[in-house]
Amino acid sequence: MPIPLFDIRTPLAPLRDAMHEKLTATFDAGAFILGPEVAAFEREFAEYLGTPHAIGVANGTDALVLALRALGIGPGDDVVVPSFTFYASAEAIPLTGARPVFCDVDPETFCVTADTVEAALTPQTRAVIAVHLFGNVAPVADILRLGVPVVEDAAQAAGSRGRGGRAGALGTVGCFSFFPSKNLGGFGDGGLIATADDEIAERVRMLRFHGSRDKQSFELVGHNSRLDELQAALLRVELPHLETWCDGRRAAARHYADAGLGELVSLPVAADGADPAWNLYVVRHERADALGAALQAADIGQKAYYRVPAHRQPAMLPWAAPADLPGTEEAARTHLAIPMSPVLTPEQAGQVVAAARDAGLD
Ligand SMILES: Cc1ncc(COP(=O)(O)O)c(C=O)c1O
Repeated sequence: MPIPLFDIRTPLAPLRDAMHEKLTATFDAGAFILGPEVAAFEREFAEYLGTPHAIGVANGTDALVLALRALGIGPGDDVVVPSFTFYASAEAIPLTGARPVFCDVDPETFCVTADTVEAALTPQTRAVIAVHLFGNVAPVADILRLGVPVVEDAAQAAGSRGRGGRAGALGTVGCFSFFPSKNLGGFGDGGLIATADDEIAERVRMLRFHGSRDKQSFELVGHNSRLDELQAALLRVELPHLETWCDGRRAAARHYADAGLGELVSLPVAADGADPAWNLYVVRHERADALGAALQAADIGQKAYYRVPAHRQPAMLPWAAPADLPGTEEAARTHLAIPMSPVLTPEQAGQVVAAARDAGLD
């Protein structure tokens, strides 16, 4: 049987009837922009995270842009960001007028560390974007000790835990994406900003609605970036299941280890104090492409996500200046995502490991 890289449909299948009821009720209520479903989802997600404010926005990229703008970041400011990440983590920075300064990652965790961030600080640094890549959790408390606000890019880490709380509730502001393949995936685009800071929350609420509090007076040049009412309604049906799904992701990682995958490739390492709900299960090997080809031949999903890291993407060249990022280069060269989902079985893990063994890597 083929094994997909991720399985969105199986975990959602039991929720089909509840989702249909929710869609009908939302349709009948007829409030499609910032209605009661968005407000309720914001309350419930804030409670889940253990943070006072959760504010729905249109997608995870906007969450980063609005979070940076709410921190007052703009032209003349530097923002530190890892290069080994999805491009949007870096893209958000020039959209505010600020300059991305790329830092390295630990290739074993795929996350930034306090040391890699510190090496990239400049006198103009006004924030750090700590990406919780693949569901791992960067050491936010250590980075905060450097004295700079931390924007957590928790797009891939809903449900993961770090030292002191959930990913996205550890730093100054947390940013989430509800892109369908994420740990909490919607039926289209969606995002959210979490914070304990009342002023930041107030500014985000304004920024997502054209810089206005009351739709009469426009105090900021803002955005039209709202979480859609229909998405919020469906995400509310899913949220009570997130914890079970995350446990399924943790179990899937154990199935791989139990099946002996660690004898063949380097397994991802949880960052210090982290309990990751792996969104993607990403292994490393010097012959990652050969492994990918062998898995593909066996009908097993696989993907190299970031062979070209963000600082070497064409649009980032103006800000890429002399970046010496050995951990990033190693991770970019050697990583490969293999199947991960809340419902990956021990048998499927065994099948993946057998195919990896047949690849004859060494
Ligand atoms: C690490 C990371 N940051 C930001 C984003 C942007 O999220 P979105 O696609 O919802 O804009 C994504 C996902 O796509 C992501 O994986």
